[in-house]
Amino acid sequence: MNLTNLNPKLLKAHYAVRGKIVARAQKLEKEGKKIIYCNIGNPQALKQQPLTFIRQLLALVEYPELMNHPETLKTFPKDIVERAKFILKENPKGMGAYTQSEGMHFIREAVAGFIEKRDGIKTDVKRIMLTDGASKGIQLVFTMLLHNEQTGFMIPIPQYPLYSATIDLYGAKQVNYYLDEEKNWELNESELNFSLAKAKEKGIATVAIVVINPGNPTGSVLSKENIKMIINFSAKNKLAILADEVYQENIYNKALPFHSFASVMEEMGEKNVPLFSFHSISKGFLGECGHRGGYMETRNVSDEVYEQMVKLQSIGLCSNTAGQIATFAMVAPPKTGDESFDLYEKEKNGILADLKEKAEILGAELNKIPGMHIKVPTGAMYAFVKFDLPAEDGIHPEKMGEEERLKHEAARDTDYCMKLLEETGICVVPGSGFGQKPGTFHFRTTFLPPKDEIKALVEKFGKFHTAYTASAGKAAVKK
Ligand SMILES: Cc1ncc(COP(=O)(O)O)c(C=O)c1O
Repeated sequence: MNLTNLNPKLLKAHYAVRGKIVARAQKLEKEGKKIIYCNIGNPQALKQQPLTFIRQLLALVEYPELMNHPETLKTFPKDIVERAKFILKENPKGMGAYTQSEGMHFIREAVAGFIEKRDGIKTDVKRIMLTDGASKGIQLVFTMLLHNEQTGFMIPIPQYPLYSATIDLYGAKQVNYYLDEEKNWELNESELNFSLAKAKEKGIATVAIVVINPGNPTGSVLSKENIKMIINFSAKNKLAILADEVYQENIYNKALPFHSFASVMEEMGEKNVPLFSFHSISKGFLGECGHRGGYMETRNVSDEVYEQMVKLQSIGLCSNTAGQIATFAMVAPPKTGDESFDLYEKEKNGILADLKEKAEILGAELNKIPGMHIKVPTGAMYAFVKFDLPAEDGIHPEKMGEEERLKHEAARDTDYCMKLLEETGICVVPGSGFGQKPGTFHFRTTFLPPKDEIKALVEKFGKFHTAYTASAGKAAVKK
């Protein structure tokens, strides 16, 4: 079999976070080069320790026999043993059996309780579905809303490439809207109107808008006012909202708190705009990416529509059981007075404090490098760093068509990131993999590596950037 036998939509789809720069990094690593992987938000691959609470709970529910040994009862905190027994009572068929399509009922109830506590709003357990990570929930909604090849989905630029890749894979239309870099990557109403009108001119029927908050790759957190504007825009234009809120625990600036779309909608009394919100065990302080757990909460859709969503989920049977249990652990953590509480709090606060410190170090230090510009991340796990490249003699991108220009500039940022990798061992993702405004260059880096590595990393960035831009022609000038 060769590529001509394959679905052309698969061939078109592109997923930069694991693209050719990463493949090169893996090859270099095999050859003995030390690589610092800053390309992907995979915390435990970068030495973040799993929470003891989650692993102890999973161990007991996966192998209940352990609870028959007195030694175990001495080693495991009492509340975790009780919790494991509770899980086994609620799910008597055990971890090896399929669950209901939407996931175990008691876990969905716990998710509803989590949302009610977080937002102070009423939540319907019948509208909560457990998913294999947020990705699968997002793809479910895309599948459900897709009518034909002219169906459009508005996505932010820059975006997390799950969205562009899914749109290509499913044969839909990508309707880009640019985030406003100068305003902390917020959404801009006139840009949304412009983008929607342009799509309409091309005969695209836009059905939904994706919002990532806190942002990937931007590391920014949206204000309540901005969220209200997006909800009003969606109401006016009859769009559904996909609120990707997987980084809701990764908030580093108290002045910019997280507001869920569900809570803002409730506050506005909005009852018509369909809302699909996603959360995950992969991010926050859990970092349980490999366990593939998460949930989707749906608002403002009819029972008939929701039945179709459940049917769609049932075609894939159910999400995996370990991911469901880890989701339970995320939404129902130890309480004050539980034996496991103190360690849980210590581990959680340690991870979040460390991420905050690393975001600040990275932000402050990269901004000192002439030709690099970064909004200090206030959320998520990333910085989307803008860098200057000197103009190339005899080449005039401003005279190129948009597509040609983006291709040309993608080749330049990819070359930059490839050379960065080869010379320093730092693996980041070119901005073109997420999308960026013509005439700008970015790369996305995580701030997940250990603190001492972050400091060394910044130094390497500085030296590399100066040398690269000098050899590329005129020196980059800091604005
Ligand atoms: C914005 C965003 N949404 C969704 C995902 C996917 O998360 P999950 O592992 O829950 O599928 C990621 C992963 O990096 C992400 O950054």
